[in-house]
Amino acid sequence: MATTPIKPTLDPVRDSQIRNLALAEEGALKLDWAAQHMPLLRQLRERFQQERPFAGKRVAICLHLEAKTANLALTIQAGGAEVAVAASNPLSTQDDVVAALVDRGVTAFAVHGATPEQYRGHLEALLDTRPDLIIDDGGDLVSMLHEKRPEQTTEIRGGCEETTTGVLRLQAMAKEGTLRFPMLAVNDAQCKYLFDNRYGTGQSVWDGIMRTTNLVVAGKTAVVVGYGWCGKGVAMRAKGLGARVIICEVDPIKALEAVMDGFEVMPVREAARHADFLVTVTGNRDCVVRDAIESLKDGAVLANAGHFDVEISKPDLRALAVSVRTVRRNIEEYRFADGRRVFLLAEGRLVNLAAGDGHPVEVMDLTFALQALGLRHVAQHALTPGVHRIPEALDEEVARMRLRAWGIEIDQLTPEQARYLQSWRTE
Ligand code: ADE
Repeated sequence: MATTPIKPTLDPVRDSQIRNLALAEEGALKLDWAAQHMPLLRQLRERFQQERPFAGKRVAICLHLEAKTANLALTIQAGGAEVAVAASNPLSTQDDVVAALVDRGVTAFAVHGATPEQYRGHLEALLDTRPDLIIDDGGDLVSMLHEKRPEQTTEIRGGCEETTTGVLRLQAMAKEGTLRFPMLAVNDAQCKYLFDNRYGTGQSVWDGIMRTTNLVVAGKTAVVVGYGWCGKGVAMRAKGLGARVIICEVDPIKALEAVMDGFEVMPVREAARHADFLVTVTGNRDCVVRDAIESLKDGAVLANAGHFDVEISKPDLRALAVSVRTVRRNIEEYRFADGRRVFLLAEGRLVNLAAGDGHPVEVMDLTFALQALGLRHVAQHALTPGVHRIPEALDEEVARMRLRAWGIEIDQLTPEQARYLQSWRTE
């Protein structure tokens, strides 16, 4: 689609491409439920209403469109921005929440289950709104800007990236010298990966698996492929649910960490033989391929929690299967010639979002407080093109806000202690 040089005037009801605006009432209930448990965004919204850090700015948000994200969009809107949203994954979109957003003045381009063409069309439509600032999750929006609309990159003041995969892609672009505007790596803030990646993914992945299959975890073997912050969370919660946990890693340090954390460690091919549940959470492709699939036992449940649906090889599953059928919502059965069946959840897409509601609300409140403060930082500072860290002061501010909201007090360094920590002298 050709880009227009003049900023169009957005009318959310007229311009949005969504399933059905009549779902707005139902979506509003979800949105308001989440809002009640997001005290950080509530405070920021009040602050932004006074400060108006985004006055006159267009903000394009490409995130998983569910209730917590909707509250982030409204927080940015309260800061004076004209906000438009599109989905970062076709299966995580909740049509009723999107309708509620449109009802509250946000332009949206997203439908649950969009085809790859529709999905790309929605990103194009989002970019046609000519944003000044962006929030991306996984890097598709930034890639599209650079690959298909390089002339538009000069209009972008900067943005924020939500996830590990997106930050890796941005870093690859920056290394090549192709990234043409500044992007804050929200994922790399401590208040993001320590809580969202670990506790958020840990809880939401098992929530997604359990609500989809209705199967017990206790007494079973859970294989977790990848022991980054997300994998640590998934493994920790599997252990808490009573599973025997096996970790697969390529990084010797992370593998050693898993051993010392008390888990068995072995290659995927070998671990697959033991798996009742196998969860990939690596951010890489082809982690479970033919050799592992061939050694899976009958009834194994496969799920992915990495950003893209490339971690478990669907081509290999299809090539080996003699039949494929949907046996329950979000469960596909692959039957092999020897009679074994394995079950793939949510088409191998992010199981916590495609078959659940994503991370718990309070966790996303932390992440989205970082996003809101990060975007304000980008709006207010002339950053150079490249990948930037969230300032430490913002990271700490978010932690303090969360502690305060829970009524938890902590100690403070005395001036003598602060001096002691900065001095190399013996007295
Ligand atoms: N909800 C909204 N965005 C999410 C994300 N990136 N991960 C999990 N849950 C989410």
